[in-house]
Amino acid sequence: MSDGWAESAEAWIADMGDEGDFGRRFVLDAPMLKRAAAAGSGPFTTVLDVGCGEGRFCRMLADLGMDTTGIDPTAALIDHARMLHPEGAYAIGRAERLDFADASFDLVVSYLALIDIPDIAAGIAEMARVLRPGGTLLIANLNSFNTASNEGWETDWSGHSKFAIDDYLDERANWVSWRGIRIQNWHRPLSTYMSLLIGQGLVLTHFAEPAPVGGMRNRGDRYRRVPWFMMMEWRKPDRS
Ligand SMILES: C[S@@+](CC[C@H](N)C(=O)[O-])C[C@H]1O[C@@H](n2cnc3c(N)ncnc32)[C@H](O)[C@@H]1O
Repeated sequence: MSDGWAESAEAWIADMGDEGDFGRRFVLDAPMLKRAAAAGSGPFTTVLDVGCGEGRFCRMLADLGMDTTGIDPTAALIDHARMLHPEGAYAIGRAERLDFADASFDLVVSYLALIDIPDIAAGIAEMARVLRPGGTLLIANLNSFNTASNEGWETDWSGHSKFAIDDYLDERANWVSWRGIRIQNWHRPLSTYMSLLIGQGLVLTHFAEPAPVGGMRNRGDRYRRVPWFMMMEWRKPDRS
């Protein structure tokens, strides 16, 4: 069964525009770029963006001088990425089976894509495999407390809006829709991601729940009121 990405690709490209949606533009892009730049070992840093979508973050990393490769299973998004960034390397592919040799990349990025990967155990194992020893896996993901919401915002009897979460420990795929996009997102408890990453022998070196900076105050409110995004940086130990 489709996960909705092929059908939603056109609306997704329109929604990203040149600058990304609100959450990317005013919450995640700046800290993600800062961490990526710090993790990169120099201008020839090789980066794999797993679930790169239409390639916006690859283009931003390429602007920092990095040698970027983006993979994504959605053909229309990869076509768009290639059109906007012909010098970049893009391929159709899934996180669960990365077509690269072991230890190929200095930096592996997953930007709001873990929630889209059905077999997350295989996806994380593959990300760790293609990372070189001493390299960094940089992740932005929807917070698991956020994806535990079945209904999202609700208005209570007194007119106050509340964000309801439920069935936190039950892993499941939820259909979510906004602005012409309709896709499946996976909810998993935070312990699922943490256990899988620890199980690969990776070491957590950074954790953040970034707040919005700039943008219209009322649009940023929801990122402050409830857990929304989280960022993690994991290091693959050097061979001893
Ligand atoms: C929320 S979008 C994020 C795209 C991009 N990283 C960004 O931040 O704009 C999630 C992406 O994951 C991709 N995706 C879906 N299943 C995947 C899988 N099994 N492996 C890798 N990527 C997948 C989708 O095609 C989509 O482009």
